[in-house]
Amino acid sequence: KQPNVIAPSILSADFARLGEDVRNVLAAGAEWVHFDVMDNHYVPNLTIGPLICEALRKHGITAPIDVHLMVKPVDRIIPDFAAAGATSISFHPEASEHVDRTIQLIRDSGCKPGLVFNPATPLDYLDFVLHKLDLVLIMSVNPGFGGQSFIPTALEKLRRVREMIDRSGRDIRLEVDGGVKVDNIAEIARAGADTFVAGSAIFGKPDYAAVIAAMQAQIAA
Ligand code: DX5
Ligand code: ZN
Repeated sequence: KQPNVIAPSILSADFARLGEDVRNVLAAGAEWVHFDVMDNHYVPNLTIGPLICEALRKHGITAPIDVHLMVKPVDRIIPDFAAAGATSISFHPEASEHVDRTIQLIRDSGCKPGLVFNPATPLDYLDFVLHKLDLVLIMSVNPGFGGQSFIPTALEKLRRVREMIDRSGRDIRLEVDGGVKVDNIAEIARAGADTFVAGSAIFGKPDYAAVIAAMQAQIAA
């Protein structure tokens, strides 16, 4: 298991002053920036694209930008995100015609590939591609919106992927996204996650540092 990472989802940030808000959350102790891309087609919401990613880089944000694509089709936006400064790019297998090819496209563009599993999506996709991934992202809500409640079956899924990653002997991050809060993050960490996306739990509070420190304390043990 790799060192824990807190990845605030900027979906819940203040978009009218995004650069400042992202700088503040990183100064408050967050390690990554989780960047939710929604297209009003694969998911029923519309958010941000490569332009905003590039704007954050130009603003001086050097932390890893963890792009979570909730778009269909997937492939044609990948080179744009790589050029815009994305670090990792994760996608949903249901949104790709050729999952293995999309993984390779992300790798060839110089980014770290991740595969995302919705609450009802089986893990079978991992059978033949786990070794090509840098991260596996388990959704603990249905994608599309921040502020939803954690779906408890995600815990069993995390345990299963943790086992698969450990058996592979590879450095693959196990990320969880949706409804992660100070009061459930310890249990989520025990299920095997090492990378924790949290949107409303962090940006919904005035003191980001206090929330992040509380989360880190919960998962330190
Ligand atoms: C949901 C997004 C999540 C979301 C998490 O589709 O992928 O990243 O912003 O928000 P919270 O932490 O509020 O559930
Ligand atoms: Zn996300």
